[in-house]
Amino acid sequence: MEKGRVLVTGAAGYIGSHTVVELVNAGYEVIGVDNFSNSSPDMLKGVEKITDRKIPFMQLDCSDREQFAKVFEQYPDIAASIHFAAYKAVGESVQQPIKYFENNLRSLLCLTELSVKDGRERGIVFSSSCTVYGEPDPENLPISENAPVKPATSPYGRTKQMCEDILRDCVTAYPSLRVTALRYFNPIGAHPSALIGEMPVGVPQNLVPYITQTAAGIRKELKIFGNDYPTPDGTCIRDYIYVCDLAKAHVAAVDRMLRTDGSDRYAIFNLGTGTGLSVLQLVNHFISATGVSLPYSFAPRRAGDIIKVWADPRKANRILGWKADTPIDDVLRSAWAWEKKVRGIR
Ligand code: UD1
Repeated sequence: MEKGRVLVTGAAGYIGSHTVVELVNAGYEVIGVDNFSNSSPDMLKGVEKITDRKIPFMQLDCSDREQFAKVFEQYPDIAASIHFAAYKAVGESVQQPIKYFENNLRSLLCLTELSVKDGRERGIVFSSSCTVYGEPDPENLPISENAPVKPATSPYGRTKQMCEDILRDCVTAYPSLRVTALRYFNPIGAHPSALIGEMPVGVPQNLVPYITQTAAGIRKELKIFGNDYPTPDGTCIRDYIYVCDLAKAHVAAVDRMLRTDGSDRYAIFNLGTGTGLSVLQLVNHFISATGVSLPYSFAPRRAGDIIKVWADPRKANRILGWKADTPIDDVLRSAWAWEKKVRGIR
């Protein structure tokens, strides 16, 4: 059953590749684009192996309007786009803000312009982040979509807020456009096939890739940033969501945009599990789920880290008919299986 065509930008990236798999499984036609600036063609091969399908793909930079326009010329039947293509390293964004504003804003503007240009009804699903909430007030936890958006703590976070604002204004201006902003909590894990997964370039900044690389012997030990936070065990608390569950939420969001009558043309959903885990709890889950030893020590707090945040995902549960319910031990085993596959560890 073919349901219509979905453009996926950043299709070779971590969340993009997992989402292409779920879109194909759900019966959508996909056109993927990526410039491989922070991803590899191997991911597309993995996707094709998992789905047993050739995925139409164009290598291009979404911030290059002329190149990007060719996608819509070739595939005018694009019904919805899922926009993953963006830079995402928080620390780098502080060092190089122009790079982040230039790339993340320009690509979104190009996509939006191309989506509305011919007046056809189209949807955009935007990859946003829980970073838009900043440090939530404790009485706002778990955090719902109604919580205030706080001043961003990094240029990366600001691009997410600005892109949401741009899209909201464009929905007002262009009646043919529908938008769903998905605010992700902390995506982790890999496809059960171990054919696709997270592939950080250089030293991983995020917790789970650092854990799996340490377990694989590539890093000496995990440093847990801060054990004096006002939390039960002193380490930060996050809402870790399985990337395959997250990918399925994108399919549900596209389904809803294409199905609904258009009365609610701009929607925001939190995508998390609803459960917060501390860094130490996550580390202990990894050790018990995989049986692998993981050397770690405590280190000073990392600048810019928030203390605790986890999602109230009930809006997404109710309206998208979606729930993140993969057990954390299964998720961590999937991350470890992927790391072993990449490193050739048996
Ligand atoms: C950050 C961003 C988030 C962004 C995501 C993508 C903020 C507040 N959050 O998430 O918006 O989408 O990156 O890259 O800017 N930790 C360690 N040791 C490590 C690595 C991490 O203890 O080696 C701890 C961190 O201090 C944190 C937790 O693990 O408490 C999760 O960190 P990380 O995986 O980097 O994600 P966030 O910082 O939550």
